[in-house]
Amino acid sequence: MIKKILVIHGPNLNLLGEREPGIYGNTSIDVLNENIIERAKDQGLECEIFQSNHEGAIIDKLHAARLEFDGVIINAGAYTHYSYAIRDAIAAIKIPCIEVHISNVFARDDFRANSVIAPVCKGSISGFGFGSYYLAVQALSEL
Ligand code: DQA
Repeated sequence: MIKKILVIHGPNLNLLGEREPGIYGNTSIDVLNENIIERAKDQGLECEIFQSNHEGAIIDKLHAARLEFDGVIINAGAYTHYSYAIRDAIAAIKIPCIEVHISNVFARDDFRANSVIAPVCKGSISGFGFGSYYLAVQALSEL
């Protein structure tokens, strides 16, 4: 049963609210995080949130998560499209991992349509704005 979840925000997501607002909106990562924690609480889940712009730090956090958490939600940012190292880290840990994207990655540049992490994730949610994270919280709570 899923009780404790980890949310990982990858590179450039610390600039939410400022960064390409036409694509990612005007709301900051702090507000997003508060909303995620509230949704998790509503589902009876404890939630920790981690953001890093560094591939190795994300990998270290995934490794640590296998001992501390029951599930992971990850927005790997651009690493989604080429980081075999993050893919291998997700494959290495046994807890379920849900891939999320704020934007619809299939409706943008061609390179964004490919996710190297999708095959090792339980499922993927893309295109619902911050709602992609909330849907992932709900999906994890129902696993
Ligand atoms: C993103 C989509 C990626 O292609 C991009 O590199 C990001 C954000 C999203 O949430 O829509 O940094 O993961």
